[in-house]
Amino acid sequence: MDAPSPARGHAPVMLAEALAALAPRDGEAYLDATFGGGGYARAILQAAACTLTAIDRDPDAIARGRALEQEFAPRFRLVEGAFGDMESFVAAPVNGIVLDLGVSSFQFDEPERGFSFQQDAPLDMRMDRAGPSAADAVNRLSEAALADLIHFYGEDDDARRIARVLVQERAAAPIARTGALAAAVERAVGGRKGARTHPATKTFQALRMLVNDELGELSRALTAAERILKPEGRLVVVSFHSLEDRMVKTFLAARAGLSALGSRHAPEAPDPRAPSFRLEHRKTIAPSEAEVAANPRARSASLRWAVRTDAPGWGEAPAFELAPRASEEWSRIV
Ligand SMILES: C[S@@+](CC[C@H](N)C(=O)[O-])C[C@H]1O[C@@H](n2cnc3c(N)ncnc32)[C@H](O)[C@@H]1O
Repeated sequence: MDAPSPARGHAPVMLAEALAALAPRDGEAYLDATFGGGGYARAILQAAACTLTAIDRDPDAIARGRALEQEFAPRFRLVEGAFGDMESFVAAPVNGIVLDLGVSSFQFDEPERGFSFQQDAPLDMRMDRAGPSAADAVNRLSEAALADLIHFYGEDDDARRIARVLVQERAAAPIARTGALAAAVERAVGGRKGARTHPATKTFQALRMLVNDELGELSRALTAAERILKPEGRLVVVSFHSLEDRMVKTFLAARAGLSALGSRHAPEAPDPRAPSFRLEHRKTIAPSEAEVAANPRARSASLRWAVRTDAPGWGEAPAFELAPRASEEWSRIV
């Protein structure tokens, strides 16, 4: 990760590619489900004489976006809320939805939000500034739940060792700051010579995903998108994590009729339902080398998009529960 700088703002990632996939047109209605710094929203509003609703769960993003809302009134509406509930923020079906997942540079670079181990700050990580924080997770989950969380969400092979050390250290004093967490993980795994990333990167990521229910939100957003997109409406998703990308890929492949039912009795049987999405581009789209060179935060981005058909929606997607022990304990804390 490059050096943080709160003054710099958020450079939209894969903006040209996302705009090309969304293809906004005059007179149509769009939803930007992750307003962030407003880079996508501005580009959509400038690309066509369309209307746009944008959502963000972060009150700071909403406050920053009010100026853009005024600039593009009455075509643009900005609302605070979670994209898992996107259906409640649009009055009528839309022609396109874009999700640019994860955190913005505003959030990451502001030490007090607690997303980064680069500077010592309270261990927070709540995008919406509500409910229990990452410190609650680190100090209240059992060792087994922490290990599962870091293993499955962080995809960290040292998860058990890290969880053991966290539980030992919190017995002496609660782990309440990003610096204390980063130092504890470093003590658990050693320096990891030659590693390109800090040893705590994956632990931070796992905690962020839990605290913000990122996979649950994405799953709800995908099925909501299926319900609120008009036929020929486009769904565009930019993800930054392999688990998110896999969820989008699996959802779209199933809805496009490209994956088998997976039944024990007929594992290769095609799903009898008519596809609710059409994939125009089967493979994931990656950022250009030039963009990654200019903005290192783009390097793990991956864009997928699909077009809604006129077939009925398929309803809820199968549950995507990776670390049930952590989720179950967390639900009692929340
Ligand atoms: C990567 S940024 C989006 C940047 C934006 N495309 C731009 O050009 O500035 C992601 C934003 O999505 C918001 N976000 C993440 N998960 C969310 C959710 N479940 N509901 C609503 N907003 C969410 C974050 O608060 C953050 O501001």
